[in-house]
Amino acid sequence: MASLDQIVALAKRRGFVFQSSEVYGGLNGCWDFGPMGVLMLNNLKNAWWEAMVSREDIEGLDAAILMHPRVWEASGHVAHFSDPMIDNRQSKMRYRADTLIEEYIERLRKKGKTDQAERIEQQLAQAETPEDYYAIIVQEQIPDPVSGSTDWTPVRHFNLMFKTYIGPVEDDSSIVYLRPETAQGIYVNFKNVLDTTRQKIPFGIAQIGKAFRNEINTKHFLYRVREFEQMEMQYFVKPGTEMEWFEYWKEQRYQWFLSLGMPESLLRITPHQKLAHYAAAAVDIEFHFPFGWGEIEGIHSRTDYDLRRHQEYSGKKFEYVDTVTRERYIPYVVETSAGATRSFMAFLCAAYDEDEVPSSEGKLEKRVVLRLHPRLAPIKAAVFPLVKKEGMPEVAQSLYRQLKRRFKVFYDESGAIGKRYRRQDEIGTPFCITIDGQTLDDQTVTIRDRDTTQQERIALDAVESFLAAKLEQNIVTQ
Ligand code: GAP
Repeated sequence: MASLDQIVALAKRRGFVFQSSEVYGGLNGCWDFGPMGVLMLNNLKNAWWEAMVSREDIEGLDAAILMHPRVWEASGHVAHFSDPMIDNRQSKMRYRADTLIEEYIERLRKKGKTDQAERIEQQLAQAETPEDYYAIIVQEQIPDPVSGSTDWTPVRHFNLMFKTYIGPVEDDSSIVYLRPETAQGIYVNFKNVLDTTRQKIPFGIAQIGKAFRNEINTKHFLYRVREFEQMEMQYFVKPGTEMEWFEYWKEQRYQWFLSLGMPESLLRITPHQKLAHYAAAAVDIEFHFPFGWGEIEGIHSRTDYDLRRHQEYSGKKFEYVDTVTRERYIPYVVETSAGATRSFMAFLCAAYDEDEVPSSEGKLEKRVVLRLHPRLAPIKAAVFPLVKKEGMPEVAQSLYRQLKRRFKVFYDESGAIGKRYRRQDEIGTPFCITIDGQTLDDQTVTIRDRDTTQQERIALDAVESFLAAKLEQNIVTQ
């Protein structure tokens, strides 16, 4: 697999992802999606949305980012959504205490000090309070990775929610939070959706939207950022059936990544070591990033924690009444929570490849190619006239206009044909269609396959149906 630097460089070079506010030196933990990036991200989100909301048992929702502050008290985020932080007095650097310890363990392993590494790892697995983390750091004399200093402050909890004020008065009564997950918008609308649809339990509510976390250690490009997008679905079930549904959704979500071309060797499912405050069971779907395994989606069995808390805090009923048995209960929830932007990065990493292909002079030439699933590819096909004369551009433009009605296609007549192919390979365009001298004689064109670079000749008037068949007509339009 390519290095992260290669992925970041390609993402910038080809207009997938830019640093936020780059001209002002950038804003840490925030990224902008460029022309190719936004097409690919939308393709990814559409694929998820269709997989969810085309089902009869799932409804869609788009809740506001700003919500009543009581939502976050009820959900437990005000009290619990924090990281244990420690400051070094000498370097003035702030670290997540658990990450500081994990990275120290990693360094010990690299030096072959396995026993010490394992001992500290066991202590870390038991650590729960700020005092526990502090004790490990002091006892093991873990140094600041920047300055080497061991002059640490105590460990304190730092809440990850961004705060702002609603309305003209900036005081405690007007504090609102930028949502750290989309899930709560779904829970507080549970009754609204139930009352306005014909859904019966089990059923789900799906939502895609921005989430914000004031992460201390942003890292690895889009992996840990402060503003990101989530694709979450909450599935409401009868208490007692939640583990069946948990297993079901784990499999469904794993298969979804495979269906979009993710190689099985780069995916795995890992149970959570430590459960979040709301979870009774949880697994992560992990992807093998250039820096190692990392979560791209969590499947959580959340019991009735959230609905019960909202019932308690709002004073409104969150009960479900079974119309057949007349049973009343607060449903249990199985959540599928994927990062849209983190999955985008995973698909980009999985697709990145370098190989050698014959150039027009017959020599072998290095190329970078994104082997994206056609569903995710920003551009589905490119149309080229071989040269900018002899009537070729006119034929090519007419074909481009025809295809454009149905697919996201690109027209390019500038530069050598080899360069034009390379440009499309780098953005993952599955097919390139070239109009050449022979087209003018017999109305045929060449179609080049991105992955094999093989070209075949087909009739000009068969191009549209060829693409529709190859790309699966119903899924390639934007
Ligand atoms: N509603 C449950 C929830 O939010 P989570 O495991 O905290 O669970 C779910 O987040 C997904 O959101 C993660 O698997 C990841 O893909 C994405 N995510 C979370 N924090 C992120 C961050 N700081 N940057 C990018 N993506 C993030």
